[in-house]
Amino acid sequence: MKLFTSLLALSSAITVGYAQECTNLLVRKEIRDLTSDEWSYHALALTRMNSNGWIKWFTRIHNENSMEVHGNSMFLPWHRNFINEFEQTTRRYYPEFTLPYWDSARDYSSPMNSEVLTYRYVGGNGDPDNNFCITNGPFKNWNLTYPDDASCLTRNFTIEDGKMPPWQSPEEMTYITQTFQTYEVFAMVLEQSLHASIHNAIGGMLPSMNSPNDMIFYLHHSNIDRLWWRWQNLVPNGSTLYDGINYDNSTALVTDKITYFGNTVESILEVGKNGYCYTYQENTPVQKRSAGGSSGADAVITNPKMNLATALPLDVLKKYFPKLTADGTSSFAVDLPNTVSTRAVQFAQKYDRMVNRSAAGALIDNRNAKLPVVGRTIADSTVITANTINLSTSPVTGDDKLADQYKMPYPAAIPESQLKMNNLNLDDYNKYLKNSKEFIDALNNAGYVSPYI
Ligand SMILES: *[C@@H]1O[C@H](CO)[C@@H](O)[C@H](O)[C@H]1NC(C)=O
Ligand SMILES: *[C@@H]1O[C@H](CO)[C@@H](O)[C@H](O)[C@H]1NC(C)=O
Ligand SMILES: *[C@@H]1O[C@H](CO)[C@@H](O)[C@H](O)[C@H]1NC(C)=O
Ligand SMILES: *[C@@H]1O[C@H](CO)[C@@H](O)[C@H](O)[C@H]1NC(C)=O
Ligand SMILES: *[C@@H]1O[C@H](CO)[C@@H](O)[C@H](O)[C@H]1NC(C)=O
Ligand SMILES: *[C@@H]1O[C@H](CO)[C@@H](O)[C@H](O)[C@H]1NC(C)=O
Repeated sequence: MKLFTSLLALSSAITVGYAQECTNLLVRKEIRDLTSDEWSYHALALTRMNSNGWIKWFTRIHNENSMEVHGNSMFLPWHRNFINEFEQTTRRYYPEFTLPYWDSARDYSSPMNSEVLTYRYVGGNGDPDNNFCITNGPFKNWNLTYPDDASCLTRNFTIEDGKMPPWQSPEEMTYITQTFQTYEVFAMVLEQSLHASIHNAIGGMLPSMNSPNDMIFYLHHSNIDRLWWRWQNLVPNGSTLYDGINYDNSTALVTDKITYFGNTVESILEVGKNGYCYTYQENTPVQKRSAGGSSGADAVITNPKMNLATALPLDVLKKYFPKLTADGTSSFAVDLPNTVSTRAVQFAQKYDRMVNRSAAGALIDNRNAKLPVVGRTIADSTVITANTINLSTSPVTGDDKLADQYKMPYPAAIPESQLKMNNLNLDDYNKYLKNSKEFIDALNNAGYVSPYI
C-alpha cells in the first residue's frame, strides 16, 4: 500500500509535466575552461557513442526534421531539446559528461587563431588532398555512418586572403541581446548572425543538415542556447516569451508540441526545470598572471577606450546598449568574456604610455573623471561603470588615431545558397547585415577598441 501510494505520487509528479525543479544542475562550461583531462574523458565518451551508432542516430534525427526546425520559431526550442537529449545520452557513457559550449564570439576577429580549432580541442581544417577529412584532434579517426557508411569527419574552412573571415563579436551579441525584445525577432537575428556564421565558416559537414556529425555542432548549439538563456534572464518575463510562426505558417504558441520530441514548448522554456537540469557558467574572473604582476586583461579592464560605458556617447549607448543606460542593470546585460586578445593588450599598453606622456591634459582631458570602475570581470566592470558614472558627460576623448589601427571588422556575409538551405529569409538577412554594419561603424567612430580585436 505504501509502495503503491508513493508510486502514484511519483507518476502524478511526472504527468504534471512542468514547473518541476531539478535537484542538481549541471554547469555547462566554456570548452577552454575544462582541464585537458576533463576534455579527454569527454572526447573518449563521444568516440564510444559514435562506435555504438549514437552519432548516426542524432544526425539522422536532425537531418530528417531539418525543414521544420530552421528559419522559424521552433529553431531554439527544438535545438534546446536536441542537445539536452544528446547530453543525457552521453552521460550514460560517462556520468561526469556535461556539454561544454564554444564562446565563438571571443574568436571573432581572428578565427584561425582560436585554440578550439586545434588538436587540443576539436581539431582543425580538413585536408583538401584527402576528401577534406580532418587530420588531427580526438575525432580524426572516426568512422561516420550517416548518411554514408565509413566516411570521415570533414571540414573545409572558409578562407579568404589566407584567413578565415571575421564573424560576430561579443559586443554585437551583447547588442542583439539588449535590443531585440520580442522572441520572434531575437530568435531570428540569433539564427541569422552567429549561428549561421559558424556553420558557414567551418564548412565540410557543418553547413549541411548532417552537421551533428561534427562535435562543433553541439558546442556551438550549446552556445546558441546559452545566448537565448541570457536573453531570457535579461528581458522582463523572458522565460515565458514565445511568438512568431511555425514552418507551416501557423502562429507559434507555447502549447505547440516540439517537432519530433512531442513535449510542449512551454515545458522547455525555463532552463533548470522539467529535466532541463543545467545552467551555464558565468565568466571566470580575471586571472592574475603572477603575484604582484597583472595580466593583459587588467590593462584592458582599466582602459576607458575599451569600456562601452566610458567610450561611447550617450546616443550610441541608448541605441545599442539600452540596458546600460537603465538603472540597476543586471549581469545578464553584457556577455563580454575575460580572455582578451594579444592585440587588445598591445593597444591598452600603448594607450597607457601615451596618456602618461601627455599628462598635461591635452590628449586625455577627462580621463580621471571617466575611469571605469573595476569589477572582477570585464562584464562586471562595464555594468558597474554604467551604473556609477554620469553617462551624459560624454565619452572619454583620446587619441583616436591610435584607436583607428584597431577598428572592429564587419562579420563576413553568408552566401545566398547557404541562407536558402537553412530556410532563412534573404530580405530579413540583408536587414540584419545592414544593422550590423551600422552598429560596428558607430563603435569604431567613437574610438571604442574591442578587448577581443
Ligand atoms: C574505422 O574503420 C577502419 C576500417 O574498417 C578500421 O580499421 C578502424 O579501426 C576504424 N576506426 C575506429 C575508430 O573504429
Ligand atoms: C572549400 O573551401 C574553399 C575556400 O573557402 C572553396 O573555394 C571550395 O569551393 C570548397 N570546396 C568544397 C569541395 O567545398
Ligand atoms: C510578467 O508576467 C506577470 C505575470 O504574468 C505579469 O503580471 C507582468 O505584467 C509581466 N511583466 C512584464 C514586464 O511583462
Ligand atoms: C508560408 O508563407 C510564405 C510567405 O507567405 C510562403 O512563401 C510559404 O510557401 C508558406 N509556407 C507554407 C508551408 O505554407
Ligand atoms: C602611467 O601612469 C600610471 C598612473 O600614474 C602608472 O600607474 C603607470 O604605471 C604608468 N604607465 C607607464 C607605462 O608608465
Ligand atoms: C550629468 O552630466 C550632465 C552634463 O554635464 C549634467 O547636466 C547632469 O546634471 C549630470 N547629472 C548628474 C546626476 O550629475
